[in-house]
Amino acid sequence: MRRAHVKLFVPGPIEVRPEVLQAMATPQIYHRTPEFRELYAELQTKLKKFLYTEQTVFLFTSSSTGAMEAAVLNCVKKKCLNLVNGAFAKRWHEITKTCGIPCEALEVPWDKAIRPEQVEEKLKTGEFDAVTLVFNETSTGLMNPLAEIAEVVRKFPDVLLLVDAVTAMGGVKIEFDELGLDVCLAGVQKCFGLPPGLTVCAVSERALKRAEEVKPRTYYFNFLVMLNSHKKNETPATPTIPHMFALNLQLDYFFEEGLERRFARHEEMAKIVQTWAKKHFDIYPEEGYWSKTVTCIKNTRGISVDELNKTLIREYGMRISNGYGDLREKTFRIAHMGDLTPADIWGLLRAIEDILNLR
Ligand SMILES: Cc1ncc(COP(=O)(O)O)c(C=O)c1O
Repeated sequence: MRRAHVKLFVPGPIEVRPEVLQAMATPQIYHRTPEFRELYAELQTKLKKFLYTEQTVFLFTSSSTGAMEAAVLNCVKKKCLNLVNGAFAKRWHEITKTCGIPCEALEVPWDKAIRPEQVEEKLKTGEFDAVTLVFNETSTGLMNPLAEIAEVVRKFPDVLLLVDAVTAMGGVKIEFDELGLDVCLAGVQKCFGLPPGLTVCAVSERALKRAEEVKPRTYYFNFLVMLNSHKKNETPATPTIPHMFALNLQLDYFFEEGLERRFARHEEMAKIVQTWAKKHFDIYPEEGYWSKTVTCIKNTRGISVDELNKTLIREYGMRISNGYGDLREKTFRIAHMGDLTPADIWGLLRAIEDILNLR
C-alpha cells in the first residue's frame, strides 16, 4: 500500500509545512502589476535581511543547476578555477566546460575538504578571474571552510568567488557581504523547506560589473537583463509566482523562529545524527568538516540501504537517502535540514535502530 505521506529525511526535496504548501495555491496574480511588484519588493527586503546583505538578490525560475550555469556565464572573463571535492562540484566543472568557458579543476579526494592554501597557490598564478566552490557538498556530507577560502580569494581583487550554498542556505548562517562573496545560490527545496522550482541567488556589485565586461553568453540567465527588471521589482520572464507566495510566508516563519535559533537547531540535529553515526557506523568525510545539514554515513556494517529504506517507508513512513553515485551502497545519507526538529531526528534514528537491531 502506498502511504499518503512519507516523511523525507533526504537532502531535498524535503518536508514542506502544510501552510507553505497552501500558500502555493494562492490565486495567481499578473506579473506586470503593482501587487506583483509589492510581493517582489517584500521578498527582496526579507532575503537581504536573511543573507545579511545590502546587495542584489535575484530569483531564478529554475533549479540550482540553472543558477550555477548563470554564475559562470556571467562572471568569468578569463578563466575559472573549479574547486572539486564531490559530485556537485564536479557538475559545476562540467557546466563550465560545456558552456565553453576556459576552466581548470582543482581536485582533492572526496572525503577531504578544500584547503585555503591550495586555493591561494592556484590563484597566485594570475590565470584565474573566478572560483567556484560548493560550500556544502551534498554527495559526501562535507562542509568546506567557506570563510577561510573567502578570505584567501579576497586577497585577489580581480577574482570573483561563486558559491553553491544549495544545502547550506537556510540552515547555516551566510553573511554574504561580510564574507565578501560574489554569487551565492540555493534552490528552495533544501534548507528553505519549499517545493523545488525556485533558486535564490545573491549577487555582488563586483559580479554585476563583471557581467558588463563579459560578452553576453545567455539571455534567460543574463544578470544584466535580470538587473534591469529587478530595479522595477520585476523579473524579465514569467516567474514561478506560487513559489514567491510560499517563500514570502516561509521567510516570516524563519524570522519568527529567529535566524540564530534556526541555525542552532540545525547544529543540534547534526550533532545528534553524527554522535549516533559514530556509535553505530562511521562518518564518510574527514572530521572537522562534517556538514550541519546532511550526514553521509559510512556503511561499515554492510547493510542493504535499499532494504532499510523499504522497511522505513513501509513500516514507519520515513525515507532516508542512499549514497550518491559511486558511494551508493558504501554510504547512506540522513538529511537534518529545513523545518525538521531534534524530535523528528530521534524518531528516525530509533526506527533505524529497531529495524537493524542496534539496541
Ligand atoms: C550542492 C548541490 N548543488 C547543486 C545541486 C543541483 O540542484 P538541482 O538538481 O536542484 O538543480 C544539488 C542538488 O542536490 C546540490 O545538492
